[in-house]
Amino acid sequence: MLRTHTCGELTISNLGETVTLCGWVQKSRDLGGTTFIDVRDRYGLTQLVLNSDTDAAIREKSRELGREFVIKVTGKVLERSSKNAKMATGEIEIAVSELEILNSSKIPPFMIEDDTDGGEELRAKYRYLDLRRNPIRNNLMLRHKMAQEVRKYLDGRDFIEVETPVLIKSTPEGARDFVVPSRMNPGEFYALPQSPQTFKQLLMVSGFDRYFQIVKCFRDEDLRADRQPEFTQIDCEMAFITQEDILNIFEGMTRHLFKTVKGIDLHNFPRMQYADAMRLYGSDKPDIRFGMQFVELNDIVKGKGFSIFDNAELVVGINAKGCADYTRKQIDELTEWLKRPQIGVTGMIYCRYNTDGTLKSSVDKFYTEDDLTNWAAAFEAERGDIMFVLAGQADKVRKQLNELRLEMGTRLGLRDKNTFAPLWVLDFPLLEWDEETGRYHAMHHPFTSPKPEDIALLDTTPGDVRANAYDMVINGTEIGGGSIRIHDRALQSLMFKHLGFSPEEAQKQFGFLMDAFEYGAPPHGGIAFGFDRLCSIFAGLDSIRDVIAFPKNNSGRDVMIDTPSTIADAQMNELKIRTTV
Ligand code: AMO
Repeated sequence: MLRTHTCGELTISNLGETVTLCGWVQKSRDLGGTTFIDVRDRYGLTQLVLNSDTDAAIREKSRELGREFVIKVTGKVLERSSKNAKMATGEIEIAVSELEILNSSKIPPFMIEDDTDGGEELRAKYRYLDLRRNPIRNNLMLRHKMAQEVRKYLDGRDFIEVETPVLIKSTPEGARDFVVPSRMNPGEFYALPQSPQTFKQLLMVSGFDRYFQIVKCFRDEDLRADRQPEFTQIDCEMAFITQEDILNIFEGMTRHLFKTVKGIDLHNFPRMQYADAMRLYGSDKPDIRFGMQFVELNDIVKGKGFSIFDNAELVVGINAKGCADYTRKQIDELTEWLKRPQIGVTGMIYCRYNTDGTLKSSVDKFYTEDDLTNWAAAFEAERGDIMFVLAGQADKVRKQLNELRLEMGTRLGLRDKNTFAPLWVLDFPLLEWDEETGRYHAMHHPFTSPKPEDIALLDTTPGDVRANAYDMVINGTEIGGGSIRIHDRALQSLMFKHLGFSPEEAQKQFGFLMDAFEYGAPPHGGIAFGFDRLCSIFAGLDSIRDVIAFPKNNSGRDVMIDTPSTIADAQMNELKIRTTV
């Protein structure tokens, strides 16, 4: 080793020792006769001191040092005269007796400090420098610890980690595939896995019984704060289990992570039906750190001559507690926010429950004080509250009110990053109607089993069929999702038929899986967690980008290595990819 200690470990107990440290120059302060240099590595920061006692040649050499120079330094551990209680090494400093410059550094394009002056673009281009900063490194260390704890927990329960291939054939998870041309098979392509779904099911057919993998998945979809084109799943599958077993084991894993990584004991996770989540929160991933549940008003507001309510499929609202003092300006601003195309509300009705006990709505022309008293009762509103009400087509208005609820939750400080509110959402619909293609799509994926009691509805009202599918949600983010699978060829064929596949198409794409089902496939099911999302929740971040060492930007680019990029004509020719002009 080039060093005897790291830059984070020396304390008063090392006084008098001669030590050697290696690291990067964080900063250097020349105070006339004395120079202080902070040297930094992954473990911390140590102060070096050079003064009139220091060899003149070393003092001369120290003048060459700039920020981020890499040095090796030997010296004696001294007690500092002015101590820094905030630093682990704040009681000591090193009186330098040897100094070697291992490498110089250009002036970095931004400050390598916790609060940097670097903009997002610049930090992305020099990601290797950004990764030197404590906050980002801490996120990756957290991620490492979480991965270790996942392995410990699953290994302790007989799960076997198996690697599945990356050059595969399309696995439908609802996104577009990234494809890779095959040189040896001109005109043919591999797809990168959107998930290892079919392989983990095949491993169950093979008798592995309990599988997991911390695995990269690839999806070509529009990117958001919680989506990357390549991301990591904790992918799991089990045979001979019920849904209840899966919920218990993976609730246990999540609790284990909170306990070992964050020291937090979580209670049993509440369970909510998908239908209730939509009705009460307008979302299949409700943030239940706060209440503000939806209140449906059709029964009490219709038939009073207010056509917007009379013509709406659903009139629904929330009670914003303590907000009766919202000014007209604030309400207008909130309404404008809701009218943005992303949300698309046409208007919002409100009703104040003033502190003097009077009720005042924006539709007083149609509703008497008695009517408004009924509203207040439905909302369980108290003096000082304000009720916000939207009306329209049921699905759409629920989505819009979900946005308003989350915004009010944020404004009222009800979404604290250090509060964790997990839950299971159960019984998702099996199928979802897609307006664009005019047919049903699998809401989870086509291998999810319908609830046996609902199978008959496939022929009559397919949209009503519920699936044995579940999501784990924490603080309004979908952390994981899974299902009990179909393990029977006939039922799987029926599913493909309902998804609009001809028998030939189904056989061509998924024949391998259906064939495998004919060789003793055990009942099985599983789940996959979005590992990046889980890490970002643990780290208290809004985006998954900073729990990923080398993430892509919102256009799917890595600006550091500058990719995607064109390839040489020779390579195109070799791959038999036609170039069109
Ligand atoms: P699903 O598609 O729900 O299920 O994915 C599982 C979890 O992966 C995370 N996730 C993402 N994270 C970051 N970026 C993305 N682009 C992205 N897409 C998904 C989410 C999600 O809950 N094979 C099934 C699992 C199963 O049935 O066992 C699957 O992939 O947190």
